[in-house]
Amino acid sequence: MVETLGIAVGAFLTLAVVALHFARGTEYATPDDISQEVLERRAESVPETDFPEPMNRSIGGGGVAAGAVAEGEAEGELAEAEAEVDDDPAAIPDDEAEVFEVEYVKEGSTIEVKENTTLLEAGEEQDWDLPYACREGQCVSCAGHITNGGNSEDYVEHHTQSMLGEAELDDGYTLTCVAYPVADLSLETRETP
Ligand code: FES
Repeated sequence: MVETLGIAVGAFLTLAVVALHFARGTEYATPDDISQEVLERRAESVPETDFPEPMNRSIGGGGVAAGAVAEGEAEGELAEAEAEVDDDPAAIPDDEAEVFEVEYVKEGSTIEVKENTTLLEAGEEQDWDLPYACREGQCVSCAGHITNGGNSEDYVEHHTQSMLGEAELDDGYTLTCVAYPVADLSLETRETP
């Protein structure tokens, strides 16, 4: 008897809840999508910068400018690289290169060296065992002494040397790995300042 009464009350309550639900609803309305509005408000609150920022915080800001600058930078670097190639005596074609007489004093020989060949390379082509390390003008392993008198750059063009100061150049020192002849000269190899 009690069980039947319990079941009946339970069923009644369940039906009442279902009926209420369909009669009134939950009154919950799904909100509109405000994400775009929020993004726009954030964009307005962040000032535009005059410079490109990586991952610029403001919407639409910086992306184009950053691209434009990156493009400009790339063009600048390209122009610089081209200028460097143009400046590089090694880029002079063999059939256009001027030839100079270079006396290698210690080796007891005078050879012809083209203006597109370093003093080190020219010596190596003679099978002389000349010292070197970086071959980029960044050490002094290949240093030599031009004995004609005066600044060594009256006789050679140093391409990208960063080790010899003005005083050492004035004394006639050279880095043979990056030294391209621009005049006849006499060279003592294995001479460091
Ligand atoms: S080998 Fe290093 S400067 Fe010439």
